Amino acid sequence: MTYENILVSTEGAVGIVTLNRPKQLNALNDALMDELGAALKAFDADGNIGCMIITGSEKAFAAGADIGAMATYTFSDVYKGDYITRNWELIRTIRKPVIAAVSGFALGGGCELAMMCDFIIASENAKFGQPEIKLGVIPGAGGTQRLPRAVGKAKAMDMALTGRMMDATEAERAGLVSRIVPLEKLMEESLAAALMIAGYSQIAVMAAKESINRAYEGTLSDGVMFERRMFHALFATQDQKEGMAAFVEKRKANFSHQ
Ligand code: CAA
Repeated sequence: MTYENILVSTEGAVGIVTLNRPKQLNALNDALMDELGAALKAFDADGNIGCMIITGSEKAFAAGADIGAMATYTFSDVYKGDYITRNWELIRTIRKPVIAAVSGFALGGGCELAMMCDFIIASENAKFGQPEIKLGVIPGAGGTQRLPRAVGKAKAMDMALTGRMMDATEAERAGLVSRIVPLEKLMEESLAAALMIAGYSQIAVMAAKESINRAYEGTLSDGVMFERRMFHALFATQDQKEGMAAFVEKRKANFSHQ
């Protein structure tokens, strides 16, 4: 597949997708989301890739779904066309970790895309928001569900009802982002985190992601039981034998992802 709206590259075992519609501040249209899904799926299926990064430009991670493209849609267009769901939801099926490296605006669908990733590393100039209310609609790519889970009901209501933006400091304090880094270090730090993850057992990494995601989708007791069974299952892997033997023998583990 040739890509027109994203740039795709690799650094060691890390797959990087850079959103690339600079004139539209990376507004997320259907073509871009189709390409993003295809690129992530390809990385997920590639045994040499252990982690992925989605990033944008210095000015914008993504300023939302493409308003120009949606402005004239009717109910039947969006309902029959499965708008947002058809391609955006594919991101949820990616099993290896995906880091959002965010600088500049992450608004509307841009904030929602970042929240669909496993964690967000933000540069000091990052700004998050769900301003859809100003357009006469509501967040439509999971924002009303993932934002309250990330920052709690009060801040989620404040953001979605006023449409105001949250800067990086507030976003980190509220738990939306995992760390803030200087703008010029965003890719370096994100890549270091991704390479670290890619160096671990892919099986254990996928099991950790799957288990933490359970925390969002079920009861505590179901989640703990899921985690416990995944933990038990990892004792069937070669990577568990290698990881623990390496610790006991005071050497670095060499994971085979088996
Ligand atoms: N869709 C389409 N085009 C967009 C866009 C978007 N979401 N955001 C920005 N652009 C375009 C602008 O129209 C402008 O294009 P032109 O140069 O052709 O006029 C270009 O990007 C640069 O934008 P601005 O001139 O507005 O730049 P700025 O620095 O003055 O402001 C901004 C930046 C505050 C991000 C402003 O562009 C803005 O408010 N954008 C819209 C944000 C928004 O409402 N996002 C939610 C979209 S709806 C959604 O996402 C639904 C959902 O939940 C799935």
